Amino acid sequence: MCGISGAVGLKNISELLFEGIRNLEYRGYDSCGVALINKSRLLIKKDIGGVEEFYRKHNVLQHKSKIGIAHTRWATHGKVTQENTHPFTSRDGNFAVVHNGIISNYRPLKAQLQKEGFKFSSETDTEVLAHLLEKFYKRSRNVEKAFLKMLNLIEGTYAIALISSYLPEQIFCAKKESPLMLGIGDEIKFVGSDFNAFIDHTKNAVILDDGEYAILSRDTYVVKDLLSKEEVTKPITKIEWDSETSKKGGYPHYMLKEIYEQPQTISNALDLEESGLDEIVDLFAESENSYLLGVGTTFYVAKYAKYVFSKLAQEFFPSISSDEFMALAIVNKESLFFCASQSGETFDTLSALKHAKLKGARTAAVVNVMGSSIARLVDKVVLQGSGPEICVISTKAALSQMVVLTVLAMKLALKKKVITRKIYNQHLQSLRELPEIIQGILNERSGFIHRLAHKYSGTRNWLYLGRGVYYPIALESALKMKEVAYVHAEGMPGGFLKHGTLAMIDDDVSSIVFVPPPEDKVLYEATMHSVEEIRARSGFVLGIHFTEQGKNSDLYSEELILPKVPPLTAPLIQLVIGQLFAYFTATSLKRNIDKPRSLAKSVTVA
Ligand code: F6R
Repeated sequence: MCGISGAVGLKNISELLFEGIRNLEYRGYDSCGVALINKSRLLIKKDIGGVEEFYRKHNVLQHKSKIGIAHTRWATHGKVTQENTHPFTSRDGNFAVVHNGIISNYRPLKAQLQKEGFKFSSETDTEVLAHLLEKFYKRSRNVEKAFLKMLNLIEGTYAIALISSYLPEQIFCAKKESPLMLGIGDEIKFVGSDFNAFIDHTKNAVILDDGEYAILSRDTYVVKDLLSKEEVTKPITKIEWDSETSKKGGYPHYMLKEIYEQPQTISNALDLEESGLDEIVDLFAESENSYLLGVGTTFYVAKYAKYVFSKLAQEFFPSISSDEFMALAIVNKESLFFCASQSGETFDTLSALKHAKLKGARTAAVVNVMGSSIARLVDKVVLQGSGPEICVISTKAALSQMVVLTVLAMKLALKKKVITRKIYNQHLQSLRELPEIIQGILNERSGFIHRLAHKYSGTRNWLYLGRGVYYPIALESALKMKEVAYVHAEGMPGGFLKHGTLAMIDDDVSSIVFVPPPEDKVLYEATMHSVEEIRARSGFVLGIHFTEQGKNSDLYSEELILPKVPPLTAPLIQLVIGQLFAYFTATSLKRNIDKPRSLAKSVTVA
C-alpha cells in the first residue's frame, strides 16, 4: 500500500533510494517517483510503471544528492498517471512531499486552496499537502511550524515524508495509522514504510507511533509529540531479519521462494517460546467469547482455526472477516479478540482491533512483522518468525499461522483435559514431521503439479471443494488462483454443491476436490459424495488425495496422490498443492507473479 523511502547522509543517496523503493515495491507498483535536492534546488522525477524501468528511463542515478525521498504508489485517489504520481511539489517548488494513506478531508482543503489561487495538477488527495506547506511557510518562515500546522489541519490516515529547499539537510516525517519508521545509521538516517526500505544499511530502527513526528539529518534525529512538541525518547528496535532473506536467491519469483521456505517457517513456528503461547491459551480459556479474525488470506487462516479449535478443543470460536467485525461481533471485557496478520498493518484488522480494545476486550494476535502496529497494540502477540514475505500473495506466512493456531488449539485441548498428554504428544509429533513431508512434496511433486497446471491453464472456471477443515483450504487455494493467475476460482464446502452450484457443472467448469485421508471416515465419505455428484454429470474433477486405491480413472479425471499422513496435517499439506497449482498456472499464463495487477501487500487503507 504505497512505499515511502527517504534518506539523508554523506553519500550520494540516489542509489539508496532506488534500493529502498525497489525493496518496497510489493507495497504498490503502479508508478513511482523521487525528489532530490541538488545545490539547494529540488529535483523531481516521476513516472508510471515499475521502479527499475523508471530509474533506467529517467536516468535517475546520474543525479547526485545527499538527501531525498522516494515513493512507489498503489493508486487510491486518481488514476495511474504521471500527474498523480508522488512526490508532489508546492507551487513555488520549495517543498516535495510523499504520502501513504488517505487524507479524508482533502476536498474542502483543496477547494479552499483553489480559492486562494493554488493550481492543482493531479486528482490526488496528497497534493493538498504540498500547497498547505507553502501556504503556512509563507506565514511563519519556519518549516517545522508549517509542517505542524499542516498536520493539525488534515484528517484521515497518513505516513508523510517531506523535504524542502529551505532546509536542504533535513527530512520531516509523521504518521497516523499508516506505518512509518526510521533507520538509524552512522552519518546516515532513513525513513521508510517498513524495514525493507533500509535493512541493507542499518538494523537499528525507531518505530514511530501515531501522534509523533520526526526530523532527521545526517548525524542526528529527533522524535517529538505532535501535541506538546516535546521530545520523545524512543527505543531502538533491532531488526532481526537478515537482508539476505529478502532477496530472491536464485528462484524465478518470490512466490516460489516463499513456498519453498515453508519447511523452515513451519519449523520456526514449532520452535516458538512455549510461555508466550501458553499465555494466549490462558486468554482463550478465561474469555467468555473468543473471536478469530483476519481478512483475505488471514480470514481463511481464522476459518481454518475455527475448525481446529472445534475439533481438538471442543470450543466454537466464530471466525469473522475483519471488515465485518464491527457489524457483527458483540464484544466486552469478557471477550477475546484474536487476529492473524502477516503485515500487522492491515487497516481492516487494525480497525477491528481498535474497536475491540475500546470495548475493553482482551486482545492477542499472530503476526509476522515485528514492530508492526497490530503487534504493538495487542495484549499478547506471537511473532511467528517466518521472515520477510515479499510476494504480494501470502503463502509461507499463512501456512505458518495455521501451524501456530493448531498448536494453540492443542494446548487449549490439553488445558481443558479434552485430550491426554499422550494424544497431545502424538499431534505434536505429526506437526514436527510436517516440514520434511512438505520438503519431499516440493522436491518430488512440483514437476508433476507444474505439468498438470500447464495442461489445464486454459481452464477459465474452477470450483474448489472441501469439507470441514478442508473447506478453508479450498477457499484459500481458490484465492491463490484468482489473485496470481487471474482465473475465476470459487471455494465452496462440498455439501453446498447440490444446493445450487451443481447446475453449473459442464465443460466450462472444472473442479478441484481436497479429499481427506480415509481414516477421517465421515469427512472422507462426505467428500466422495461431492466427487460422485460431479462425475455423474460428466464434470471434470482433479482429486487431491492420499490414497493409492483412489488410482481409479472412473473416480477422478486427474489425480494427485499424496503420501499417507495423519488427518491433523493433511489439510496443511494440501494447501501447499493449492499454492503450487496456482503458481504454475500463473507462470503458464505469463502473469506478473510477485506483483499481480491491482493488488498491493499490506492494505493500510479503508
Ligand atoms: C492474499 C493476501 C491478502 C492478505 C490480506 C491480509 O494472498 O495476501 O489477502 O492476506 O490483505 O493481510 P495481512 O495478513 O498482512 O493482515
